[in-house]
Amino acid sequence: MTQSLTIRRPDDWHLHLRDGAMMAAVLPETARHFGRAIVMPNLVPPVVRGDDAAAYRERILAALPEGATFQPLMTLYMTETTDPEDVRAAAASGLVTAVKLYPAGATTNSHSGVRDFDKVRGVLEVMAEIGLPMCVHGEVTNHDVDIFDREAVFIETVLDPLRRATPGLRVVMEHITTRDGVNYVRSQEDMGGTITTHHLIINRNHILVGGIKPHYYCLPVAKREEHRLALVEAATSGDAHFFLGTDSAPHPDHLKEHACGCAGVFSATNTMSCLAEVLETAGALDKLEAFASLNGPAFYRLAPNPDTITLTKGDPVAYPAKFPVGEDHVTLFDPGFPLHWRVED
Ligand code: DOR
Ligand code: ZN
Repeated sequence: MTQSLTIRRPDDWHLHLRDGAMMAAVLPETARHFGRAIVMPNLVPPVVRGDDAAAYRERILAALPEGATFQPLMTLYMTETTDPEDVRAAAASGLVTAVKLYPAGATTNSHSGVRDFDKVRGVLEVMAEIGLPMCVHGEVTNHDVDIFDREAVFIETVLDPLRRATPGLRVVMEHITTRDGVNYVRSQEDMGGTITTHHLIINRNHILVGGIKPHYYCLPVAKREEHRLALVEAATSGDAHFFLGTDSAPHPDHLKEHACGCAGVFSATNTMSCLAEVLETAGALDKLEAFASLNGPAFYRLAPNPDTITLTKGDPVAYPAKFPVGEDHVTLFDPGFPLHWRVED
């Protein structure tokens, strides 16, 4: 039995750090284990221009714990008025690692996103030319499409046509939640797919059976068990298309436990313990390093982190259920089973 596992330091290829007091509360949780993270730009107001990303990056660096080596990888929020030359300059200076496409209305703070994809043709063409990846929230927003079908419909009606119209565009389909997402990403060149910790663990029953569990509500919403199994198969396959993006997305408890609760699961703290447990159960602990530490940098054409982390197995690890933020709290993702793997300090 493996009791200790040393892997390259992992990265998080999709993370919400927020700003202000919330950022101060959650940033140390990511910086403890992860070398780098792709930082989502859905602040209010969003991180649209290179100047916005530079200022946000400075705020993140200033909030890091003493001695932390964590590097935020910045993204720009694509709007219908994004200036392609601003994107080009931000990429050329090394300031941004990707541009995020939110279909308008798809999720938290996405109302400044894109409604008419023709309006962003110029931006997409510059990104294809310079090899700057596009991270996409892959769900349609049409009211007549069932929420559980929105990812599959997005692939067919938006993503595939958009990629065909923009040869060379490098795309990460983020937080894939379906077998359809797995199959599509796997069949394409120049594509990556991130998978969250929670989508490897929960299906839609966890949200809805025996009373509504608002802390399991996120977008894309968790699907049927067959889809969760497809995600576990992808994450444990070693296939370089698939890598970790936690989508750790903190919201204060009063907005989660609400008549109209926010979407988002906060998992930064226990993600590595959860992943080790899930992959061990699947008989694929040897694939943890590819999924969490190697496939992501390979897609982004970056070197893996130079250092390592060691996980050890023992008695169940106790994590705080909640973290204080101002007068309120953020609730940590509860996998629903004991976690035996801990990252050594
Ligand atoms: O559950 C989610 N929360 N999904 C998203 O796409 C956005 C995120 C957030 O920002 O809270
Ligand atoms: Zn997200």
